[in-house]
Amino acid sequence: MCGIIGIVGTAPVADRLMESLKRLEYRGYDSAGIATLESSHLVRCRAEGKLRNLETALTQSPLAGHSGIGHTRWATHGKPSVANAHPHATAQVAVVHNGIIENYRELRDELIAEGANFESETDTEVVAHLVTCEMRKGAGPVDAVAAILPRLTGAFALGFLFDGEDDLMIGARKGSPLAIGFGKGEMYLGSDAIALAPFTDTISYLEDGDWAVLNKQGVVIHDAGNKVVSRPVQKTSASAFLVEKGNFRHFMAKEMHEQPEVVSHTLAHYLDLAAETVQLPGKLPFDIATLDRVSIAACGTAYYAGLVAKYWIERIARIPVEIDVASEFRYREAPLAPGGLMIVISQSGETADTLASLRYAKACGQHVLAVVNVPTSTIAREADVVVPTLAGPEIGVASTKAFTCQLATLAALAVLAGRERGTISTDEERRLVHALVEVPRLMNEALKLGPQIEQIARTFAKAQDVLYLGRGTSYPLALEGALKLKEISYIHAEGYAAGELKHGPIALIDEKMPVVVIAPHDPVFEKTMSNMQEVAARGGRIILLTDETGRRAAGFETEATLVLPDMDPLIAPLVYAIPVQLLAYHTAVQMGTDVDQPRNLAKSVTVE
Ligand code: F6R
Repeated sequence: MCGIIGIVGTAPVADRLMESLKRLEYRGYDSAGIATLESSHLVRCRAEGKLRNLETALTQSPLAGHSGIGHTRWATHGKPSVANAHPHATAQVAVVHNGIIENYRELRDELIAEGANFESETDTEVVAHLVTCEMRKGAGPVDAVAAILPRLTGAFALGFLFDGEDDLMIGARKGSPLAIGFGKGEMYLGSDAIALAPFTDTISYLEDGDWAVLNKQGVVIHDAGNKVVSRPVQKTSASAFLVEKGNFRHFMAKEMHEQPEVVSHTLAHYLDLAAETVQLPGKLPFDIATLDRVSIAACGTAYYAGLVAKYWIERIARIPVEIDVASEFRYREAPLAPGGLMIVISQSGETADTLASLRYAKACGQHVLAVVNVPTSTIAREADVVVPTLAGPEIGVASTKAFTCQLATLAALAVLAGRERGTISTDEERRLVHALVEVPRLMNEALKLGPQIEQIARTFAKAQDVLYLGRGTSYPLALEGALKLKEISYIHAEGYAAGELKHGPIALIDEKMPVVVIAPHDPVFEKTMSNMQEVAARGGRIILLTDETGRRAAGFETEATLVLPDMDPLIAPLVYAIPVQLLAYHTAVQMGTDVDQPRNLAKSVTVE
């Protein structure tokens, strides 16, 4: 996690580093800092907490250097504090780091034995001391970095700035992403294209093991074996404009309300409305008709989108699907047949565990299809096929519109697979396409539940624990509802398959605990109703999400019932996602939490 930026420039850099850090804050907001060279000497400014604290610190003590590095931190080793904020520095070098140096303990012991004085609890500081040791032995900055990189294990993207070296910056990557930006008489280093977009649209991505020496005029890139290499220079379409909240109080609110539009945009990419079929813009490099099985790996909300897709792909295309959270998948040594299909799902396209799962599948000779929202991301670049979600930039840490765009894309893929395998007829495909076309309209209807949900949230916010129940594709939605609530309101919540209730969690039910039951009138509706009766019989407070037919069929008292229009069961997860998100959002607003940047989280999880 953490975001890094560097500029070897010709004009003061502090403001520009701050502009980039604002774009990188989604990677972590535990602390931030910058280092520049003033009269060729290293100076730093660091602050704990959000970027605005660094902004205030810089107003009090401005930095004027023309070259500098900046960092926004998601704490891994050492609590959020000024001492643990990057850049870490000695008299010779300042370092910013994204990743984890796994062997930092032994390096730290060795350096302390040699007399190094550590000021932080971080793993990163060993890098600054290692370079300093080499330089004390007489190495120049470039040789010092080249000497220490092979000693680091783990994942890292690093940026180095040296005392007395106005026209030099070094970057290195292994595992964590790092891009080089080309300017006019200036060069840049950044965690992603979005960070560099205000300065340049011309970038090169470093490959694993690469390290790069930058000066104002250009860059020399070395591979892991220290051979000088060239990497493709490309134009990026990352926008130079920061996304604004508009009239909304939070990015999350804005992004929830954008869903009818971005889902419509995403569906338009995959549906041929004239032919009433699903079409991918390009040809797939494998034959869906002959697949024996599909594996899916993803994390968090993207994993729940994958879980919904498992129900769809198995039911519509009759392909067995195995799905894992990527952090488990990458280490469980799953046997994957060469030529098979792995689907990875990721909004950011940078999630370390999902990326590792992709690489594992590729090493097994599988085709990897990535459902990804950031087209310039590492996952998008490394996948064999990219099936984009067109959600646009998602700023709120809690994923909303990226989730529903993932669902839209995966639904289209399931229908396409069904057609290619002959498991659905032309008429059935037409019916499913028509159902998908209805989604944006129904999402608009779902958003109208906002005021009613705001009322429910007033009592919801007093709960200590909440249970979410659902069956079939509503089960992953129950998991997603619980995740959304806990991450932004900090209320403990669990999602359960409704049928599992009696196998344990029913013991939790009492008159204090709200139970959200997600039950569209689908083929498992009656079963869910029986589970709901079991909750009611034990005094549980039920909040029912259903449709007109479901409301009439349920026929009993709930604390609140949220009623959506009737719809095809295929699309229910896309539409029911909206009240689930609104409930978490309004509860968090009631609680007064930081909705867009909830505590302890980051938008992009680039460490495992
Ligand atoms: C929850 C949330 C996370 C992400 C997860 C994967 O609201 O946003 O659970 O879904 O960290 O992130 P991506 O999709 O970027 O791989």
